[in-house]
Amino acid sequence: MGAPSDDRQQVNQASISYRQYSGEQDLPIVMHLVDNELSEPYSIFTYRYFLHYWPKLCFLAFSGDKPVGVVICKLDRHREQAMRGYVAMLVVDKLCRGKGVGSELVRKSIQAMIEGKCEEVALEAEVTNQGALKLYQGLGFIRDKRLHRYYLNGVDAYRLKLLLPLSEGQESAPTA
Ligand SMILES: CC(C)(COP(=O)(O)OP(=O)(O)OC[C@H]1O[C@@H](n2cnc3c(N)ncnc32)[C@H](O)[C@@H]1OP(=O)(O)O)[C@@H](O)C(=O)NCCC(=O)NCCS
Repeated sequence: MGAPSDDRQQVNQASISYRQYSGEQDLPIVMHLVDNELSEPYSIFTYRYFLHYWPKLCFLAFSGDKPVGVVICKLDRHREQAMRGYVAMLVVDKLCRGKGVGSELVRKSIQAMIEGKCEEVALEAEVTNQGALKLYQGLGFIRDKRLHRYYLNGVDAYRLKLLLPLSEGQESAPTA
């Protein structure tokens, strides 16, 4: 008898490709991925808010032609001179998890934030979300605060932070 078939094994890690969000035509792909996997429901206005203002901070992952992951972020001025990034949504299709796809999506968004002179990145994750906590810890994020009953389902969140050293030539302009 042959080995039982397992869809996970059929996903070839080397076949995963990544690209930036390319416009409104990607919106249904993004919404489908996120709506299937996250516990919080989002309206189309929330997606449009992030994707309209920060399209360059959204990355998609594909296994062949199939969309398998997405990260959505923003980048705002924080205090007078600093830029702060925020990871709003991160999702990987169940069949592609544990292969580094989520980490690679976040790495790509952090790289894009660094190009936007970002000094720190923040996000929230459920205290029970072992996968997300492990992923972000692996990328250097630290636990900043515990937020009581942060989610609609009553679960607490950790606020996670990553401090980024500004590279040479990217320092904030000195105040007058
Ligand atoms: C969280 C999520 C994005 C992780 O994606 P992924 O592609 O499986 O993550 P990676 O393969 O890059 O894993 C990164 C690390 O986390 C670990 N990890 C991933 N999922 C894990 C789990 N469920 N339990 C324990 N560790 C886990 C991996 O082993 C890996 O550790 P390593 O670097 O020591 O090998 C994915 O599980 C997901 O989409 N979950 C549902 C949505 C969600 O929770 N999003 C995050 C909201 S904050």
